[in-house]
Amino acid sequence: MLKLGRRTFVSDVLATTTAYLLVPRSVKAADARIEILLDEPIGTVAPELYSHFVEHLGGVVYDGIWVGEKSRIPNYNGIRKALVDNLKKLKPGVIRYPGGCFADQYDWRDGVGARDKRPTRVNFWADTKYKTTRAYEDMEGGPQKYESNHFGTDEFVSFCKMVGAQPYLAANVRSRDVRVFLEWLEYCNAPANLTTWSTERAKNGYAAPHKVSYWGVGNESWGCGGDLTPEEYATEFRKFTAWLPTYGVPLKLIGSGPNGGDLNWTRKFFEGLALKGGRQIAKLYGWGLHYYCGSTGQQIANEYTENEWYDLLERANRMESLVTSHWQVMGEFDRERRVKLAVDEWGAWHKQDPDVPPGYLYAYAGTLRDALISGINLDTFQRHADKVTMANPAQLVNTIHSLFHTYEDHFILTPNYHVFEMYGAHAGATAVRTDFIAPKANFTRLDAQRKEIPASLWGLQGSASVKDKQLTLTVVNPHAKETREAEIAIRGASVKSGAVRTLASSDIHARNTFANPRGLEPTDALLTASGATITYKFAPASVTRLTLALS
Ligand code: AHR
Repeated sequence: MLKLGRRTFVSDVLATTTAYLLVPRSVKAADARIEILLDEPIGTVAPELYSHFVEHLGGVVYDGIWVGEKSRIPNYNGIRKALVDNLKKLKPGVIRYPGGCFADQYDWRDGVGARDKRPTRVNFWADTKYKTTRAYEDMEGGPQKYESNHFGTDEFVSFCKMVGAQPYLAANVRSRDVRVFLEWLEYCNAPANLTTWSTERAKNGYAAPHKVSYWGVGNESWGCGGDLTPEEYATEFRKFTAWLPTYGVPLKLIGSGPNGGDLNWTRKFFEGLALKGGRQIAKLYGWGLHYYCGSTGQQIANEYTENEWYDLLERANRMESLVTSHWQVMGEFDRERRVKLAVDEWGAWHKQDPDVPPGYLYAYAGTLRDALISGINLDTFQRHADKVTMANPAQLVNTIHSLFHTYEDHFILTPNYHVFEMYGAHAGATAVRTDFIAPKANFTRLDAQRKEIPASLWGLQGSASVKDKQLTLTVVNPHAKETREAEIAIRGASVKSGAVRTLASSDIHARNTFANPRGLEPTDALLTASGATITYKFAPASVTRLTLALS
């Protein structure tokens, strides 16, 4: 069993990790160590790290959320009841809407007023091919292709209210001018019957202002949002935000940030803002980083080898260096650290499930691998609670890294949902520094020439937070087969009692389907260990939450 003093612990990490690799597998003593440093707070875990994203894309809005008031599917004023009831339990922070790429195509005025009078438009995603292993097929008609506008601003804000989330709207920078943005603000936030647009809102049945604080200024302006250079986007951002009426609602503006590791986008944008002085940077609340880890060769979500399991987990883990590298560049311009990162699109992007209709773009229910990816990302954000103010997996339902999968009256929770439910205990708590050492998980990755190259991922990783003498420790064990026994040392307190919740399976492809909706669910156990150092065995291929009462 390994014993390390607090002082030697950090400096010995590398050496120790190497030493572990030499320990024969038959040695069953604790082979890992987690050190929780209660006296090294990082920051408050913003409840907005548990936020979501909804775009008019595929089956997200039409069917996933909006089923219509006359639907045989149980609903609250047209909004899918099962979705509301289950999402509410997660205490969602904010919900971002209406996109994504769709946002820079959208005119909010199409989506308010009498539903039968709203115009039909071609959706941004209309020409996207439905990629299955079988063929490339065109999507059929319907609201996924021809936007009916039956779900618009008022329906979205009502949905947010039902689940207890704050709305976050994304303004169209590519194809509408500043005035349309100002009028949307007016429609949402001006007191009733004060202006033409607030009178219109009251007429539509919403006398009380929607009080929308979070506003995105464009989306992926480096790509679908206009193919701009960072310098051009900085100019647009300044123009869009030069004067904004607040109506007494504090505005939190989020800039269209980088594509993954594009540090040049961050640097040149901040440089472009700074050209007009520090006041410009102060206007920005969050810098919207987007990062997707896609499956190798864009495979179907539940088809992968053990090497591909690790490969994708390792790619997900790159969020760590994305957060720290962009943060460093932001600091070159924002010395006072007023601007935080808003990772408003993240997740694993696979190929569409061939069994869902063509219009349900990128829809699949995900597997245990996606659940570990959720854990890896959420732990990363929590370890950087001082830098990340918001995070939104893409997207809430029926596309990419979703928490829910629906088709007509079928409705299931995906493995991602369970991780969000388990990790929610961190929200609002104080993240504390936590160090992990464990033997690495080694695997083989194919390079562009399909040559095998050795690769590795850490053996255990996670995050810890404290609130009211309760410590929450969440941990991912990526190893497909090996249990990791870890000594958990709590510096500055002692464990009185505890409970464990685990999402794991001996099948790394475990998942939920319409036919077997509870194929993968968390299990609970009581923890018998107590004291300043406890030992716990982390199951292979698992996400675990330890809830520890401290004295
Ligand atoms: O989430 C799907 C798409 O991915 C979004 O519309 C876009 O912002 C990103 O490229």
